[in-house]
Amino acid sequence: DKGNHRHFMEKEIHEQSEVVSHTLSHYIDFIDGKVKKPAESIDFASLSGLALSACGTAYLAGLVGKYWFERLARLPVEIDVASEFRYREIPLNPQSAALFISQSGETADTLASLRYCRDAGLKIGAIVNAPESTIAREADVVFPTLAGPEIGVASTKAFTCQLAVLASLAIQAGRARGTLSEAEEAALVRSLSETPRLMANVLNTIQPAIELLARELSKCRDVLYLGRGTSYPLAMEGALKLKEISYIHAEGYAAGELKHGPIALIDENMPVIVIAPFDRFFEKTVSNMQEVAARGGRIIFITDERGAAATKLETMATIVLPSVDEIIAPMIFSLPIQLIAYHTAVFMGTDVDQPRNLAKSVTVE
Ligand code: F6R
Repeated sequence: DKGNHRHFMEKEIHEQSEVVSHTLSHYIDFIDGKVKKPAESIDFASLSGLALSACGTAYLAGLVGKYWFERLARLPVEIDVASEFRYREIPLNPQSAALFISQSGETADTLASLRYCRDAGLKIGAIVNAPESTIAREADVVFPTLAGPEIGVASTKAFTCQLAVLASLAIQAGRARGTLSEAEEAALVRSLSETPRLMANVLNTIQPAIELLARELSKCRDVLYLGRGTSYPLAMEGALKLKEISYIHAEGYAAGELKHGPIALIDENMPVIVIAPFDRFFEKTVSNMQEVAARGGRIIFITDERGAAATKLETMATIVLPSVDEIIAPMIFSLPIQLIAYHTAVFMGTDVDQPRNLAKSVTVE
């Protein structure tokens, strides 16, 4: 049932504040300001590394997770798309664990990667949305996302719930490995506790600006997305969402890679969507944005209040989100990215919930 919404995708985008809240509550004790100690988890303290694998949007969630595990827990992460991971003959250290991410829990390549790691003797964790799925059954430890059924082919709420689980696990790992103090844990938990309210605020306010922008984007053939740090996987996620439901060609790049090739594409016909919260990387990303502007590129700037106040550049559109702590920025910044793809596709009249050539669950390789 779509309720008041035109599409399941729209409904699922708007459910995110609620389902992310459910998911976070499963992993975090907000009263104590601590991540919960689950009865069964991965023994992060003794690990030499973590192997991470998934497909599509779930892979991009994993890429955000890599930044968190490495920074907060000093835990090296080896990550690849499952279709490569399973065949690369990766030398796996039995002192490491493996973590797989899948909404459906049935993705063939992700399942094959899981079995590869299990045969190598690794402890297997799985972040899954379908609790009865094959991947859930074959994992040693299941970390559920409580997103509820996701009907739209383009993943939205499962993605932000995967981020919520990964953030919680990275904090858990940081505590176990002694790289996060109790006070640092409490501060991160406090930030996470604000996520659902902030998501609801953003969802209630940015729609008009996004609809105006989507009308412009629907006229374009190509769009480039740029980001740094955890905004880099988000840039790829934005491009993936746009191409799969609007059929507009889009690419996501690390902002620093701009001058290593894609800058040759810049002209007035290819808008550049720059994802830049006011974080440690902000100045660097803004200088990439200036390079785009200097070559006549049109910029769509997705930033926060502090970022908007700190930049003078003329843009085609600026989407301003609340200023939030670094750990929750990927969840908050996912919202405009999803809505841009959604409204652009609606303008173009494509079949948003069932885009051509795509299946919700990819059970063949
Ligand atoms: C994109 C999308 C796909 C899936 C991918 C993995 O919007 O939905 O890229 O993320 O097919 O699917 P699961 O998570 O079911 O393994």
